[in-house]
Amino acid sequence: MIRDKECGEIKESDVGLNLTLSGWVFRRRDHGGLIFVDLRDRSGIVQVVFSPDASGEAHELAHDLRSEYVISVSGEIRKRPAGTENLNIPTGMFEMYANKLEVLNESSPLPFSIEDAGDASEALRLKYRYLDLRRPEMQKNLIIRHKVTKIIRDYLDEKGFLEIETPVLTKSTPEGARDYLVPSRLNPGFFYALPQSPQLFKQILMVSGFEKYFQIVRCFRDEDLRADRQPEFTQVDLEMSFIDREDVIKVIEGMMKKLFKDVLDVELKTPFERLGFHESMERFGNDKPDLRFGLELKDMADLSEKGSFKVFLDALQSGGRVKAINSKGMANLSRREIDLLTEEAISFGAKGLAWIKVKSASGGGFESPITKFFPEEILKEMAQRLEAEEGDLMLFVADKEKVVHDVLSRMRLEFGKRLNMIGAGYKFVWLTDFPLLEWNDEEGRFEAMHHPFTSPMDEDIEKMLTGDMNNKELLFSLRAKAYDIVLNGNEIGGGSIRIHRRDVQRKMFELLRISEEEAKVKFGFLLDALEYGAPPHGGIALGLDRLVMIMVGASSIRDVIAFPKTSKAFCLLSSTPSGVEPKQLKELYIKTELP
Ligand code: AMO
Ligand code: AMP
Repeated sequence: MIRDKECGEIKESDVGLNLTLSGWVFRRRDHGGLIFVDLRDRSGIVQVVFSPDASGEAHELAHDLRSEYVISVSGEIRKRPAGTENLNIPTGMFEMYANKLEVLNESSPLPFSIEDAGDASEALRLKYRYLDLRRPEMQKNLIIRHKVTKIIRDYLDEKGFLEIETPVLTKSTPEGARDYLVPSRLNPGFFYALPQSPQLFKQILMVSGFEKYFQIVRCFRDEDLRADRQPEFTQVDLEMSFIDREDVIKVIEGMMKKLFKDVLDVELKTPFERLGFHESMERFGNDKPDLRFGLELKDMADLSEKGSFKVFLDALQSGGRVKAINSKGMANLSRREIDLLTEEAISFGAKGLAWIKVKSASGGGFESPITKFFPEEILKEMAQRLEAEEGDLMLFVADKEKVVHDVLSRMRLEFGKRLNMIGAGYKFVWLTDFPLLEWNDEEGRFEAMHHPFTSPMDEDIEKMLTGDMNNKELLFSLRAKAYDIVLNGNEIGGGSIRIHRRDVQRKMFELLRISEEEAKVKFGFLLDALEYGAPPHGGIALGLDRLVMIMVGASSIRDVIAFPKTSKAFCLLSSTPSGVEPKQLKELYIKTELP
């Protein structure tokens, strides 16, 4: 017998029974007379006591136990003596009084203790990922991830969705990151791309009449990595026919409601809030606002114009913006601390950071090197607009709109954290009314904000088909039937209703300056399919890793992925990527040339 039960399952009704448990030696305390071992398996921890009175042999053997030895131990389950209970663990009222011990396997000394692995460097944890994954916290994360995918599968199945797999060796997709390429031995000089998403295939499945598709699917993007980005990540991808935006939103809201209830016992209120893209940019400076706190951005252009601060006036004159936030209660910052903030703003892309301390909003107490450029009345109005009171610090950035929003949205988050303003809980918001197109300054042309198959709003289609293509204002005003779902300041999903009319798709390519030729090469198979009776369709993809990260309260998606990569896209466990044999390269007709 290797085991009767799991360690974490021991309960009142086991008291008096002679059981066998198995697992890893988590902690061992040798008190000479008695030896205590915390035995750990996936289900939890239970205390085992080795006493010479119960078995001299087991007690003798227990002296040699070390961390992470694998053991099987038998003995009577007892209530712990009064005063020795441990209320921090579910089995803390009980212990096993061991009469037999078998060492199933020994362990080499550990590079870090499982218990204190949280203090080990992440590089070390990733190299010895199998040990890191033994930590109860990591096990909990992956167990929750399993529950989440199971609930999603069941939910979508119940709603009539079919799970259909799509190819991993495929063609470049239009998500816009760099592709991972795979050379084809049988087709010399040709390459597959690993999919950035199953976008084209899921649309084709709609043309094929499957009506409701989903897939929990690995996607690959060669982009700069951060805490919420991995080169390979998982999407909950879905697509539906004969639907509009509201149908997709309803499916996802129902899914979130069920997930949060079943996994976290949190009751979410639906429908979720909605925010137009432009409003979000104006109030929060980005399109993934964390709505758990205020500190909103305020436009200061009109008030700036009534002063003589050249930095502000120049920015406005060249078509830029002046906006500000109120750092609540921060007027006590020293010059040195404000200099540090300014350096931070500059590292985010600003040219500087103007500040005004509010000493007394009513009695005319403002302190700043720039107060001299503004009449007292204007300073008061600035304070009023920012709802700044005595003790607050107003921070201003003047620059191109993009820089102003970029810098202030990051400062807003920074202050939200510093001031402990970010409350607990889950704040969902749908971002809607995205522009259809965005301007790519480098290439001097428009790009699709989502992807080139995203439909314009019904109201904008005429404008798009008949409007003047050189009228930038008009093109900027076209809105997409696209939506993102944001949770606590993280973009956890995005999708759109697709174009199913040929004339609209053709026009879209024209606007993006994608020639017919180029479109054919890139997405020809989808365009062909759309010629044969494509139903109106649309969908969305959720970033599963990000969603689970937030649900378990982790700060990086690496903590909810069993075998993640570093920020250099390297797997420290398997030392991948790695060199290959010259013979393999030859078979693939590949010569490498290193810089
Ligand atoms: P999108 O490109 O917005 O849409 O991707 C959907 C969601 O996937 C997550 N995500 C990532 N997660 C971890 N690491 C990454 N590198 C990464 N990149 C994206 C985000 C994002 O919201 N085909 C469209 C969907 C559609 O239109 O139906 C698509 O892929 O949470
Ligand atoms: P200066 O006149 O360059 O010494 O700047 C005066 C103040 O304005 C300093 O606090 C600068 O950090 C700040 N400042 C400079 N450029 C900008 C800008 N583009 N936006 C906001 N503040 C700025």
